[in-house]
Amino acid sequence: MTVVIALEVVPGSDAERAEIEEMVRRCSPDSLYHRFHGVVGTPGRAAALLAGPAQEVYVARESGTCVGVASVADDDQACPHIGILVEDAWQRRGVGTALIAAAACGARRRGVTALVADVLYEDRFILEMLRRIGPVTTAASNPGYTARVALAPELLDCAA
Ligand SMILES: CC(C)(COP(=O)(O)OP(=O)(O)OC[C@H]1O[C@@H](n2cnc3c(N)ncnc32)[C@H](O)[C@@H]1OP(=O)(O)O)[C@@H](O)C(=O)NCCC(=O)NCCS
Repeated sequence: MTVVIALEVVPGSDAERAEIEEMVRRCSPDSLYHRFHGVVGTPGRAAALLAGPAQEVYVARESGTCVGVASVADDDQACPHIGILVEDAWQRRGVGTALIAAAACGARRRGVTALVADVLYEDRFILEMLRRIGPVTTAASNPGYTARVALAPELLDCAA
């Protein structure tokens, strides 16, 4: 089932990190492992990584509650890293797809032409999700792939 959710770009402020920390508490250790590719520590530490000050943060909310977060890091202006986390109860309902699309549109409007994502071998389905925003090239990087998505020019036309 695909759901319609509200998507917002939020600043990495204390208020946003608090609601993201609450979402992290509802996530399984497995989901957190797949997002961070390892043990991340406390929910507060995870929220700080998901919504740090040097990141563009996209939040998916359902009835006012944060259910998913896309983070586009400020690490490389030309080709920043993207990471997505959707809480378990909301996975496979279209939230991740919507977050990737929103983050890609936002990045393209800022002049970014490519995004990079670290994808575990067992999460190869994410490469298909990324192909929806542009052509993907991959390089092997233990334990998975470094995927580079060239953002499609037509993303500039997406709604602000
Ligand atoms: C990866 C993740 C962001 C996907 O978000 P989502 O909201 O579940 O994804 P969607 O519902 O938009 O699904 C997109 C597609 O991926 C497929 N998919 C989703 N989860 C899948 C899984 N675990 N295995 C195989 N396919 C999967 C869906 O079937 C869908 O395919 P379709 O559009 O062809 O039907 C989410 O599962 C998650 O947060 N996982 C834990 C953290 C993580 O792995 N993050 C990615 C690394 S940064």
